[in-house]
Amino acid sequence: MNARAPKGTADMLPATARAWEYLTRTAQDLFARYGYEPIYTPLFEHTDVFARGIGEATDIVSKEMYTFLDRADRSLTLRPEGTASVVRAALEHTLVPQGSVAKVYYAGPMFRYERPQKGRMRQFWQIGVECLGADGPSADAEVIALLWRYYEGLGIPAENMRMLVNSMGDEACRPAYRAHVAEYIRSRGAELCEECNRRADTNPLRAFDCKKPACAEVMATAPLLRDELCDECSAHYATVREHLDLLGISYVEEPRLVRGLDYYTRTVFEVQVEVGLGSQNAIGGGGRYDRLMEEYGGPATPGLGFALGFERTLLAMEAAGVEVPAPPVAEVYVARVDDSVAAEVFALASTLRDGGVATEMDHQGRSLKAQFKQAGRLGARAVVVVGPDEMAAGEVTLRHMETKEETRVGMSELLGAVHTLIG
Ligand code: HAM
Repeated sequence: MNARAPKGTADMLPATARAWEYLTRTAQDLFARYGYEPIYTPLFEHTDVFARGIGEATDIVSKEMYTFLDRADRSLTLRPEGTASVVRAALEHTLVPQGSVAKVYYAGPMFRYERPQKGRMRQFWQIGVECLGADGPSADAEVIALLWRYYEGLGIPAENMRMLVNSMGDEACRPAYRAHVAEYIRSRGAELCEECNRRADTNPLRAFDCKKPACAEVMATAPLLRDELCDECSAHYATVREHLDLLGISYVEEPRLVRGLDYYTRTVFEVQVEVGLGSQNAIGGGGRYDRLMEEYGGPATPGLGFALGFERTLLAMEAAGVEVPAPPVAEVYVARVDDSVAAEVFALASTLRDGGVATEMDHQGRSLKAQFKQAGRLGARAVVVVGPDEMAAGEVTLRHMETKEETRVGMSELLGAVHTLIG
């Protein structure tokens, strides 16, 4: 048997799992203030949900999906992202009746068959929001601000991050622009890689994302959608920027930002960090997808959202020297002087836990000295020492770990005394 986790996956050991819980808790608190409610969708969907939603010509759908047939020969796919699933669920359950707005957030694992490297996994964790039904540009600015405020709230310094924004246009202006880019690619075909040449026919805008230096140089002078936006998209984009200015969110207009999913219309954005991540420097991103619900056969329903990557966010926090708060495993340790009081210690630990105190005790027959050491390792603020003499008097000894002060406390007063001691 191979006892290693599959390539591109990682066990979330307690320190990382604690960070995940901290990041999700912080998200829950902040997102609630913006009106978001939780949603959970299945980890796998009918393959079509992603193929049609994200787009057949994207890297995600063409190369990266974990697709399999179930026992009844249905084609299913592990979710590579959350947006398509949320929109599918919103359509199935009429979550957004005409004229209403639904705001939901999710947190969980996503799956993409990518080449693993620092900050790039095959199973990775995302936290995301989707705001469905709102077409006004203030909604775009609100979602962008929410992502920015979240990172700020985690303690990532603003100077370590860049918020890139762009507009992808809509069905009125993008088709002509796509044709212009395809034409441009064909005219410079000899200088571009094979894949970019192919993209002229499949997905020309993806050529802006090619990492090969020669392609990047050619694409640097390609036509920009900014110059070809229709009046409505142009006005929408201008108002989004005005609203961001209003909130003092600093952003960089990046006219070559195209993102890797085909459902986007109008606003797209991405937060990149300058230090600690190398090439996988996008810690979060999102945008508007006003046609996605229709793509699934539903009513025209605007939508927008973002997702942030847990692993990359954590790397960005580490690079900035931000620590995840680590609560002590135990606030109190109950130690026994000898085995004659083992049952009393066991019962006392339970009483303290019932009273709301994080409590630990020994289950390995450690000596009293070793129990004290263990209490220190677990971060306990106090040790309750239980011995036969104390027991006979209906008391225990309460020792403050920092001041080393010891007091005898009657059993009935112990819980109160512990609460006073640990604050
Ligand atoms: P995305 O840009 O594909 O967007 O992913 C969002 C974030 O997930 C990335 O910025 C990155 O931090 C993280 N991520 C993506 N792939 C990997 C990977 N292989 N390993 C580690 N982290 C990764 C979306 O997924 C869209 N659904 C966002 C969205 C929501 N747009 C509208 N609503």
